Amino acid sequence: MKLKVGVIFGGETVEHEVSIISAVQAMEHMNEDKYDIIPIYISKDRIWYTGKMLMDIDVYRHFDDLKKYAKQCTLIKKDDSFYLQRTTGLFRRTITELDVVLPIVHGNNVEDGTLAGLLDSIGIPYVGSNVLGSALGQDKVVMKQVFKDMNIPIVDYTWFYDSDYAETPDDIVNRIEALGYPIIIKPAKLGSSVGITYVKEAKDLREAIEEAIQYDNKIIAEKAVENLVEVNCSVLGNYAYQQTSAIEEVKGKTDFLTYQDKYLGNGKTKGVKKMPSKGMVSASRIIPARIDTGMEEEIREIACEAFRALNLSGLCRIDFLIDSSTKRVYINEPNTIPGSLAFYLWEPVGKSYSELLDELITLAIKDYKARHKKVYSFETNILNGYSGGLKGMKGKLK
Ligand SMILES: Nc1ncnc2c1ncn2[C@@H]1O[C@H](COP(=O)(O)OP(=O)(O)O)[C@@H](O)[C@H]1O
Ligand SMILES: [Mg+2]
Repeated sequence: MKLKVGVIFGGETVEHEVSIISAVQAMEHMNEDKYDIIPIYISKDRIWYTGKMLMDIDVYRHFDDLKKYAKQCTLIKKDDSFYLQRTTGLFRRTITELDVVLPIVHGNNVEDGTLAGLLDSIGIPYVGSNVLGSALGQDKVVMKQVFKDMNIPIVDYTWFYDSDYAETPDDIVNRIEALGYPIIIKPAKLGSSVGITYVKEAKDLREAIEEAIQYDNKIIAEKAVENLVEVNCSVLGNYAYQQTSAIEEVKGKTDFLTYQDKYLGNGKTKGVKKMPSKGMVSASRIIPARIDTGMEEEIREIACEAFRALNLSGLCRIDFLIDSSTKRVYINEPNTIPGSLAFYLWEPVGKSYSELLDELITLAIKDYKARHKKVYSFETNILNGYSGGLKGMKGKLK
């Protein structure tokens, strides 16, 4: 019997389209002899759709047709099994059973733990990080607070809420300037470089803050790393064991990697029609990164520590900033569900994309079984003994 794998993607996030590309690409690499692949697409208005047609990238160019032909659905538990059930039509028919779910979502409202929470509350096994790990991975402030506690190297930073800036803008500006220019201003919980500004001098600071505030209520200001070299390393595993991938060096055209650099590269890949051949990006990447063995070791070690510190599991990509003149390495951020699942970092170490997906699905099921050996609930007569309270409930129980 084939394993029924639901691949969930999309969602109301600025990285919606990127998620579609990542998911279609993953589905193309899943071994159809082993898996029954069930695409589950969350539209920008948060409606869930399923249907084999959703495995074809062209479908997303004609949303009206997609709405007409794909089936609206929801995920439910019935008896001891999980199903996709229709949400339209006269009868709420089940469409298919699911054994495990593979979320390939990026950004707010999905990757930040919200989808993990939904899947956990239903109880279905899924690939990747749990609620806590996903949420920590999305908040650039809280993750740094955790890193600091674990002595994982981070850049100097300060943070504030939009309401703080509205009340005492001068205090906030002074606090940020104490970091020393150049400074990077970022929305704390976004992604894909949206709302981020590289500020070289005082005259541009307030505009950068106001830009970031448009996207998030929480803002982080970081000391910018100069002589910047950016490298990324993927980690696969769980809290008990980790493997690391090849390390890539990523090059942008400006002071920092823009959305254009990350997803559109030289501008040839407009829209989602043409699939980038190497991962998410046509941005120039060098694999392996041009760093010495000592630094490579350091990066692998920090990547695994960060993976554990943030309670991650499944697969992530950890991004680093290096000052090439001081040789100091800083962790920038994890991506708990990286674009293209960072498959292109595993190929050079001998794992094909199909094998990577096999490993992730196997790990998810194994970890799920291990978790379920822990005690989650126990028989109790607490409600039988709780007569007093029920009197108070009288009216409400009618
Ligand atoms: N402290 C920093 N110093 C120098 N460059 C930075 C710093 N933080 C971010 N960048 C640049 O900005 C890009 C986007 O920032 P990042 O924190 O990774 O946000 P996102 O979640 O949008 O990917 C990075 O890839 C890097 O090029
Ligand atoms: Mg990033």
